[in-house]
Amino acid sequence: MPKRVFIKTYGCQMNVYDSARMAELLAPLGYALSERPEGSDLVILNTCHIREKAAEKVFSELGTIRRLQRARERRGERMLIAVGGCVAQAEGEELLRRAPFVDLVFGPQAYHRLPEMIGRALHRGETVRDTSFPPEAKFDYLPDSAGAGAVSAFLTVQEGCDKFCSFCVVPYTRGAEFSRPAAAVLAEAERLVAGGAREITLLGQNVNAYHGTAPDSGEWRLGRLIEALAALPELARIRYMTSHPRDVDETLVAAHRDVPQLMPFLHLPVQSGSDRVLAAMNRRHRADDYRRTVEALRRARPDLALSSDFIVGFPGENDDDFRRTLTLVTEIGYAQAFSFKYSPRPGTPAAAAADQVPEPVKSERLAALQQLLQSQQHTFNRACIGRELPVLFEKPGRDAGQLVGRSPYLQPVHAELPAEQIGKIVAVEIQAALANSLAGAPAGETAAEAAA
Ligand code: SAH
Ligand code: SF4
Ligand code: F3S
Repeated sequence: MPKRVFIKTYGCQMNVYDSARMAELLAPLGYALSERPEGSDLVILNTCHIREKAAEKVFSELGTIRRLQRARERRGERMLIAVGGCVAQAEGEELLRRAPFVDLVFGPQAYHRLPEMIGRALHRGETVRDTSFPPEAKFDYLPDSAGAGAVSAFLTVQEGCDKFCSFCVVPYTRGAEFSRPAAAVLAEAERLVAGGAREITLLGQNVNAYHGTAPDSGEWRLGRLIEALAALPELARIRYMTSHPRDVDETLVAAHRDVPQLMPFLHLPVQSGSDRVLAAMNRRHRADDYRRTVEALRRARPDLALSSDFIVGFPGENDDDFRRTLTLVTEIGYAQAFSFKYSPRPGTPAAAAADQVPEPVKSERLAALQQLLQSQQHTFNRACIGRELPVLFEKPGRDAGQLVGRSPYLQPVHAELPAEQIGKIVAVEIQAALANSLAGAPAGETAAEAAA
């Protein structure tokens, strides 16, 4: 009987990547992936600590999992419960206090040790906690990733962050900035492509801080890495996230100009349009620096569509600061964006600031910002109607006979197509724009139908 593991992933794409690597690491131990926690021998929650709500979700999920664990115990079976990721890293000790039935707690840099930790928990009945930042890089200890045969794959090239924005837990949960050697990245990309990937998204908490050892000598920045990846003949699309405005250098701008496989969509978080707030956030750039960076990128790639993250209600943010954020949004024009109320995180400098913004004010500002961002997204999506967009189809859609894929601008696109088109790039004439997706028909077909 194969053992079963259920992995639930919270948070960012890096956690998605890590969860996939955990599954690959556990397969040789006889663990097959399960779709649900019921009946699993091992449940892993790969957690996120970025905002309070994200962290609290883990504790409520643990309550549910505990009931399943008990039910199994009554049948004389075991269910190991493991908590990995950023909550485990930041609050491992408290977690074990609040949820003593948890068997394993491990941080994002220690999961390559999972097989050994599971052995200790299973055979010696120990509660194992490993939230160290091991001297060895986990990537050197993980099996070669084959990818799951997905059309669109994630590839972590950089980890951790040295920026210490005053609101953010990432430098504490993920540790110091670290870039994988370019040769390791290229080898993994080749394996992903051989496994069927047509699109790779390069991942990092601060991916454009990438400075990996070059295959020959010296270092490669992200732009150079993208150029090298573009030489893989079967790799049709390259993306990267999340990037920091300060680390957009000339090689990256050049890649947007010169590499057609690099998709014209960029998530470039600005957080705020007020220089006062940006300084208090320790972002180390002003609103005008961001404007200039966007201009340079748009000169290089005129159809570049942008996305961003915003925080409203950062300590000390007043009405004028907030208006500056709205002004910046209006000037830039986003295709899509994420916005959050500031959430004080234990141990970060901003959490201790005296001038916290009252909750109702945060809510009001968030609603106003989201209204503006949503109207921009709607405008962007509607402007696609009547255009022919190349869509990389990834999987079956919700309705029978339908596939869903992505436009160059990362919009989900639905079209009626046979399943053989999965993994292919099809020209789609966009006929409808919904709030978060597009719908259309293969371009040739529409032309043929019109002629008939
Ligand atoms: N490295 C990326 C962001 C990673 S965290 C960058 O520098 O942009 C993802 C997003 O979560 C951030 O961009 C920010 O908008 C949001 N975020 C991070 N900490 C937060 C907090 N304490 N409260 C609210 N939002 C937060
Ligand atoms: Fe967090 Fe991003 Fe700032 Fe790093 S650059 S501290 S990940 S918000
Ligand atoms: Fe969350 Fe950790 Fe990612 S805090 S956003 S899972 S780096």
